[in-house]
Amino acid sequence: MTTAYLWLKALHVIGVVTWFAAMFYLPRLFVYHTMTDDDPGKARFVMMEDKLYRIIMRPSMLIAVAFGLWTLILAWDAFAASVWLWVKLAGVVALLGYHYYCARLIKAFAADESPHSERFYRFFNEIPALLLILIVILVVVKPF
Ligand code: HEM
Repeated sequence: MTTAYLWLKALHVIGVVTWFAAMFYLPRLFVYHTMTDDDPGKARFVMMEDKLYRIIMRPSMLIAVAFGLWTLILAWDAFAASVWLWVKLAGVVALLGYHYYCARLIKAFAADESPHSERFYRFFNEIPALLLILIVILVVVKPF
């Protein structure tokens, strides 16, 4: 492991942590937003969701993915034949799907539409935690 590799991996993990911080909080905002009836309350949630996405969630995702790919390029020969890597990348694709679905939901809320129930968002909120557990076990334990 060269020092450069370890720096890239550190930046990758920093991006991952802040990306998840946003993905854990945003669906909680959707839950509270759905429970809100008054216009000033709704406008406040629209602003909070928009800022969380634009200032934290999207830049963090770009940092996590960019440094993850850069790390992967350097480690390609060591990891390309490992099954854990491809399962991890499938988990990342699912996470990106979640990320962009959140972006769509933010737009819907901004247009004063709430496509789902409060209960839906409570379940929806658990998806990043499940993917986090899966991906961290794969990348740290490398079980196969
Ligand atoms: C395009 C997306 C991604 C790519 C290409 C990628 C690639 C990589 C690579 C090549 C490593 C180095 C593995 C090693 O040195 O053992 C790594 C480390 C790591 N990745 Fe990712 N990753 C991506 C997304 C993610 C996501 C979404 C998570 C979290 C859910 C994550 C969590 C981690 C962690 C915790 C490590 C450090 C593991 C260790 O040092 O033991 N990665 N990633």
